Amino acid sequence: MLIKKISPLLAFFFLIYGCDSNSKIWTVFREEDLLEHPPAKRCADCHLDIYNQWKQSRHSVAWVSEGYKKATRNYSKTKCLSCHAPLEMSLNEKPQLREKHKKDGVNCVSCHFSSKDMSMHGPYDSFSPPHPSKEDKNFRKSIVCSSCHQQTYKQWKKASVSKTCQSCHMQPVKKGSLIQKFPFTYLHFPKEIYNHKFITGIAKENDIEVKAVKEDNLVKVILLNKGIPHNLPTADNGKPKFYVVVTTYENGKEKEKLQTIITEKYGMEYNKKKELDFYTFENYNSIKVEIFRKLSWEKKKKLIKSILIQF
Ligand code: HEC
Ligand code: HEC
Ligand code: HEC
Ligand code: HEC
Ligand code: HEC
Repeated sequence: MLIKKISPLLAFFFLIYGCDSNSKIWTVFREEDLLEHPPAKRCADCHLDIYNQWKQSRHSVAWVSEGYKKATRNYSKTKCLSCHAPLEMSLNEKPQLREKHKKDGVNCVSCHFSSKDMSMHGPYDSFSPPHPSKEDKNFRKSIVCSSCHQQTYKQWKKASVSKTCQSCHMQPVKKGSLIQKFPFTYLHFPKEIYNHKFITGIAKENDIEVKAVKEDNLVKVILLNKGIPHNLPTADNGKPKFYVVVTTYENGKEKEKLQTIITEKYGMEYNKKKELDFYTFENYNSIKVEIFRKLSWEKKKKLIKSILIQF
């Protein structure tokens, strides 16, 4: 029902003019440049809160990131460009490169605008006079992330869980207005806003189970990713890393420190055991296992878990 989507004030206008959002009376509010791939700043004219969140996300620095600039040799590797400044995303397929406002990285229109029907796709059945909108159920599903996060999406599918990417990386922030501009703020009911900071987060201690077996000249560490329904680490082209550090002890006295790095190629799959062999020629009867992770763009590693195991 339309009345449900809009506030009583707007409903009053409806009663007077009796028309829907595509009819003539509302086109006086239409702002045509919104349909020509404007930069994110333009969307901030109304969607200021969401813009401020996005500004803090990795998506907003996808083009200007130092690590990315270096990895593409100053944007000379053409096959690397399209996902970092996409025109419009499509499901499961690599997007096309945008020619304008590249510094904006993965911006609002990359995800929301479709030139097929010249409208902003989103999770709601919205009444938005400044630009046409279309309710698109995919915005609540993981597939909306698939055109750029291709590897991660494949891993997630294999995990066959019901939790979507959004349920962890775009959690609801608050119920509020999607717009911070008069008069629209007052014309719409508050809605759930999902966090456009796209927070990466960090695995919790219990997400990774650690066991160890003592063998001759060997510590066998068995890891199990029980919590995150994609590989740890996961990547399309970034180089996030996990570090597994084993310290051996004999009667409490430290003997050796051994380390293995887990790259995205050999990441810990969801619900699948991963065995790592640490060779040692010293005697030991207890060990400490520490797991750290470092995202592609992070300088420092962070500790996820540390446990002591007695033999
Ligand atoms: C149009 C392409 C595109 C789409 C669609 C997209 N992303 Fe991204 N995403 C990127 C790029 C490119 C980066 C890397 C930005 C950087 O750090 O340079 C990224 C980074 C991220 C990161 C940060 C990863 C890290 O290294 O910390 C998260 C989390 C993320 N995206 C989540 C999502 C989720 C969830 C969705 C779906 C709702 C999504 N993305 C849809 C292109 C996309
Ligand atoms: C299919 C889309 C896609 C293409 C093509 C692509 N990337 Fe990315 N890139 C991503 C996504 C998604 C991320 C987010 C983190 C991750 O999953 O690796 C990312 C993250 C990165 C990062 C880490 C974040 C940062 O800012 O430091 C670097 C570096 C990077 N990409 C470099 C490249 C290079 C070099 C190429 C070409 C070989 C490339 N990308 C091509 C999607 C893509
Ligand atoms: C990487 C893709 C991506 C980018 C970039 C992005 N959005 Fe979204 N947006 C989404 C997804 C996915 C949802 C639906 C989230 C859900 O319902 O779980 C959404 C939801 C919304 C909504 C409905 C309210 C809400 O939070 O669900 C609005 C309005 C919106 N986005 C505007 C914007 C604006 C403005 C920008 C730029 C400042 C932007 N988006 C950038 C993917 C994106
Ligand atoms: C002049 C104000 C204005 C500007 C500028 C504006 N919007 Fe909107 N937008 C609205 C209004 C009004 C709504 C409806 C809000 C509601 O339903 O609560 C809306 C809703 C949306 C939605 C939700 C659609 C849905 O069906 O879930 C998305 C996505 C969106 N806008 C994207 C954008 C993007 C991307 C830009 C920049 C290119 C932009 N908007 C610029 C006024 C604006
Ligand atoms: C159950 C919650 C959950 C779901 C569902 C989920 N993720 Fe993650 N994701 C995480 C956590 C937690 C991390 C941080 C892992 C770590 O400690 O490095 C992460 C990390 C990432 C990273 C950064 C690279 C890395 O290895 O840390 C990207 C990119 C990403 N997720 C994308 C996605 C996409 C795309 C989907 C859906 C296909 C998705 N995630 C589904 C929780 C989730």
